[in-house]
Amino acid sequence: MGVNKFHMKKNLKQSKIDRHGLCLNEYKKNYNNAKVYFERATGKSPEMEVSKAMANIVKKKINSDNKILDVGCACGHFYRSIKKRVKKKFYYTGTDPYPIFLDRAKIAWKNDKNVNFVKGNIYDLPFKKNQFDLSFCSNVFIHLNDVKKPLKELLRVTKKTIIIRTVLYDVSYKIQLVYNNKWWSDTNVSPAEEFDNKGNPKAYSYFNVLSFDYITANIKKINPDVSIKIVKDNFFNKKVITKSQKKEKRPLATRIIGDEQVSGCILQPHYFIIIDKKK
Ligand SMILES: C[S@@+](CC[C@H](N)C(=O)[O-])C[C@H]1O[C@@H](n2cnc3c(N)ncnc32)[C@H](O)[C@@H]1O
Repeated sequence: MGVNKFHMKKNLKQSKIDRHGLCLNEYKKNYNNAKVYFERATGKSPEMEVSKAMANIVKKKINSDNKILDVGCACGHFYRSIKKRVKKKFYYTGTDPYPIFLDRAKIAWKNDKNVNFVKGNIYDLPFKKNQFDLSFCSNVFIHLNDVKKPLKELLRVTKKTIIIRTVLYDVSYKIQLVYNNKWWSDTNVSPAEEFDNKGNPKAYSYFNVLSFDYITANIKKINPDVSIKIVKDNFFNKKVITKSQKKEKRPLATRIIGDEQVSGCILQPHYFIIIDKKK
């Protein structure tokens, strides 16, 4: 899930946040998530609805021999969906800060020669200017404290098209999911200690909703010449999501209420933000 996380060393009571405002321990020992992503990458579990939708967008945007980047790639499960739909030759790079995912990604794709995985953080991507023709980033912005630097980084490393999938609405909401050790084993915060004396959560991750105006204004601030298209993610099959929620048994796995996706009690209207750089 998110990015800010209580340090998991026993008995340590302070949040350990890195220089980007992230705590990279968030997923460090999350074996359950790693198993879910690995099984999606290897085809043991079905493709995610969002990875199919992303692959269909990518398909329309790339040319032969293009280089594409997946930021927050986990085990590279989106590559499976893209490979299935894009018949042109392309080179895929996945980047993620967490070795628990990248190690499994390398196993899942060890026989594919046009694929590589690089340890990287969206706040400081280890790539050159315009290194990729197309970059995409799915379900990561929701968990970031600040998105200005990540937007700059995506626009820096990408020559043509950037696709971001995140939760948007008319107004922004800054939401913190607060952990305790009753339901999240990687924290030592007890239910009675969820908040400190100032009322701030001790162990948390973000589930932010960004306003359309905020995201578009900040993209334009970085590069006024880009075109931005925002497309509602209505591309999912409700039954498929319900089935995988039941199978995976992850706390707060996506479920459906009405026509919308929901995590816990938070409604998540997802969108694809498609940014094209002018030639
Ligand atoms: C909710 S998962 C989404 C995985 C996949 N993109 C998808 O949509 O199914 C969030 C991913 O973002 C990664 N992540 C978290 N913080 C990150 C950061 N600062 N930079 C890059 N990736 C990050 C996590 O390790 C995880 O793989």
